[in-house]
Amino acid sequence: MKLGFLASHGGSNMQAILDGCAAGRIPASPALLICNNPGAGALDRAAKAGMPARVLNGKTHPDPADLDAAILDALRAAQVDLVILAGYMKKIGPQLLASYQNRILNIHPALLPKFGGQGMFGMHVHRAVIAAGETESGATVHLIDEVYDEGPILQQARVPVLPADTPETLQLRVLEQEHQLYPDTIAKIATGQIQLP
Ligand code: GRF
Repeated sequence: MKLGFLASHGGSNMQAILDGCAAGRIPASPALLICNNPGAGALDRAAKAGMPARVLNGKTHPDPADLDAAILDALRAAQVDLVILAGYMKKIGPQLLASYQNRILNIHPALLPKFGGQGMFGMHVHRAVIAAGETESGATVHLIDEVYDEGPILQQARVPVLPADTPETLQLRVLEQEHQLYPDTIAKIATGQIQLP
C-alpha cells in the first residue's frame, strides 16, 4: 500500500506515520508529499525521509480545477493507494474526492461529531472544548467526504480535559494521542483489520 500525504505545516503526524513505516509497524510505503505551503516544515521531514515532495497551490495552478487535477495526477503518478491528510488546510477538490472515494483519511483534534466543521481547526478547537466545559476530548481519524469533518469515523482516542488546562496544554495532550492513533489506524487499514467501504 502506497501512502500519499497532503500537509500545510509542521507535519508531526506525517512524521509519526513515516516512523511507523520505517520501523515496520505500518506495512505501507510513503510515496509522495504534496504541500500547498512552500515553507511547510513537512517538506523538510519528507526530504529527510527520502520521500518525493511537490508544492502545488493557487500560485502554481491559479484555476482551482487545474489545481485539483494536478494534485490528482501527482498522486496517481506516484501510484498512491491511500491519501493521508496531515494538517492540510485546503479543501479537497471534487476530482480528487471522486477518484479517491473512501481512500482519503483525515485526523481531527477533537471527538467528532463534536467540535468539527468549518472554522474548527488548530487552537480554535481546543478553545471551544474548554469553553464548553467538556471533561473529555481527544482525536478522531475519519474518512473525508463532501462535508467538513463529517465522513465516517474510523477510530478515536480520548484524553481528559483537566481543570487547569489552557488550549495549549490540551492541544499537547491531544497531539500525543494523534501520533499514536493515526499510525495505528493506517496499520490496521494496511493489514485489513479496518476495512474501508
Ligand atoms: C493536528 O492537530 C491535526 O489534528 C490537524 O492538524 C494538526 C496537524 O499537526 N488536522 P501536524 O502538522 O501533524 O503537526
